[in-house]
Amino acid sequence: MGDDWNDYADGWDGNSDVRTYATRAFAALDTDTGITGGGWQDKRVLDFGCGTGLLSEKVAPHVKEVVAADTSDRMIAVLQGKALPNVRALHADILNGSGQDAGEGLGGFDLICASSVCGFLPDYKSAVAALAERLNSGGLFVQWDWLASEEGGSGLTEQQVRDALRAAGLGSIRVAHAFTMDAGGQSMPVLMGSGLRAAD
Ligand SMILES: C[S@@+](CC[C@H](N)C(=O)[O-])C[C@H]1O[C@@H](n2cnc3c(N)ncnc32)[C@H](O)[C@@H]1O
Repeated sequence: MGDDWNDYADGWDGNSDVRTYATRAFAALDTDTGITGGGWQDKRVLDFGCGTGLLSEKVAPHVKEVVAADTSDRMIAVLQGKALPNVRALHADILNGSGQDAGEGLGGFDLICASSVCGFLPDYKSAVAALAERLNSGGLFVQWDWLASEEGGSGLTEQQVRDALRAAGLGSIRVAHAFTMDAGGQSMPVLMGSGLRAAD
């Protein structure tokens, strides 16, 4: 993958691998939270690094609102074109408070998801800490990333994720293999990390 996510925006939804990744991430989320069971209709969700909104599309029918934020304006343009009723697509870098509406309504989330985003961030640990502050008490942070066998490889190790979630002050931390993607004849494991913001 190159540095500029804009280059991938037009072909993103046509890539069966990224669609499968989103489907499997959502299935794992549902197994953990029961989001499709009807109890989430009053909840607010942030899909951080949403891309074209493949995960937002699946989450939105089960919750009150999804704020879908991404630093790639072309990814966001594809998502805006879908005109999903309760998805607010934001071209913004909410980690440093810049971009479209960057400051407004970007707190008080019951769930923050980051699907295949954290492993690409220059400072993953600080990012999780900043995102955790945007959760309601009892709110859940969830990420999916390529599992790296050692630090410095592509993706994140289970230990890196555990350390970052703990440093962000999250509790009930869980880090586990979530699913495996088969791409180009290679099996690529994906980890899921999650933690809850404690009551204030
Ligand atoms: C591998 S794509 C995943 C997109 C989407 N979550 C999905 O699963 O289809 C990574 C996305 O993270 C976004 N991204 C990278 N750094 C970001 C940041 N600091 N804030 C928000 N989005 C970011 C990129 O623009 C890109 O759309």
